[in-house]
Amino acid sequence: MSARWLDDEQWDGGGQRLRRKRHKPQGRRRLADLTAQPSADQGDDIIRRLVHLGHLTEVVAELKSGKEATAYVARGPSGTLLLKIYRDLQARSFKDDSVYREGQVILDRRAAKAMQQRTRRGLDMLQSGWVLAEYAHLWTLWHAGLNVPEPLAGPFPVDYAETVPAVLMRLIGTEDHVAPRLSDVRLSPAQAQSAWAQALSGMADLLRLGYVHGDYSTYNLLWWEDTVTIIDFPQLATRQNPNFQALLRRDAESLATSFLKHGLQISGDQTLRDVQRRALGPAPTPRVTLP
Ligand SMILES: Nc1ncnc2c1ncn2[C@@H]1O[C@H](COP(=O)(O)OP(=O)(O)O)[C@@H](O)[C@H]1O
Ligand SMILES: [Mg+2]
Repeated sequence: MSARWLDDEQWDGGGQRLRRKRHKPQGRRRLADLTAQPSADQGDDIIRRLVHLGHLTEVVAELKSGKEATAYVARGPSGTLLLKIYRDLQARSFKDDSVYREGQVILDRRAAKAMQQRTRRGLDMLQSGWVLAEYAHLWTLWHAGLNVPEPLAGPFPVDYAETVPAVLMRLIGTEDHVAPRLSDVRLSPAQAQSAWAQALSGMADLLRLGYVHGDYSTYNLLWWEDTVTIIDFPQLATRQNPNFQALLRRDAESLATSFLKHGLQISGDQTLRDVQRRALGPAPTPRVTLP
């Protein structure tokens, strides 16, 4: 379902710039197309459902197709949004998530077994688990005042459960110039220092709340107007997880390694110490959302 949406868009992976030909926007999939075309494609089904639920009016372009999910730029009632659609677990191999899920308690024994045996139903449950986890974490972190994208369904699970297997959040950047990842930009030395400090603070903010990201590096940090935004939360782990300390250490190391290209040479140990020290400092101001 990807190429059709990209007819008039060109994706330049390096700069994350969506260049649009001046005149004809006919390559876009209009609402009418999305709702009229019957298709077995899982992506089309979910998009039609999101339109029907009033979350979405138009999908503008495919942004990135990863192993577990595809990210789209879309429009909705509250502006430009990032639509992340998780893949059908049966169609693609899903990364082994057991490290992150250890310590989680699944009360329903039959559900636990289905997931363990990776039956069709078990895979569906695992997939919704990832989507629901990503929303739950986004809401918690957003409310706590961290620099994360604002979730655009919820805040109650009964609302965001309707969008499975998609996660809707506010797009960082603009429709025409989506925020690049820190891994894709060139930074001046001063910007690199600032990005590093923000990345450390972000990891410390998570730690203060009892979380470890689980995949923390410049690949999951966006850079927009000199501000770092953390993304990609399904694998976030809590202190209940017996691998918490190991994940923390690993995140510190991958963060440090991913900053080498920005000219910063800091060891994983030093990074971890800095994060732990910052975690003792003041928390960000919580966001108050009015109903
Ligand atoms: N809120 C957002 N605003 C702009 N771009 C985003 C946003 N969320 C994700 N992206 C882009 O989509 C890509 C995939 O999202 P991510 O959550 O990292 O999923 P995954 O790495 O599992 O494919 C990111 O690398 C980033 O380029
Ligand atoms: Mg990612």
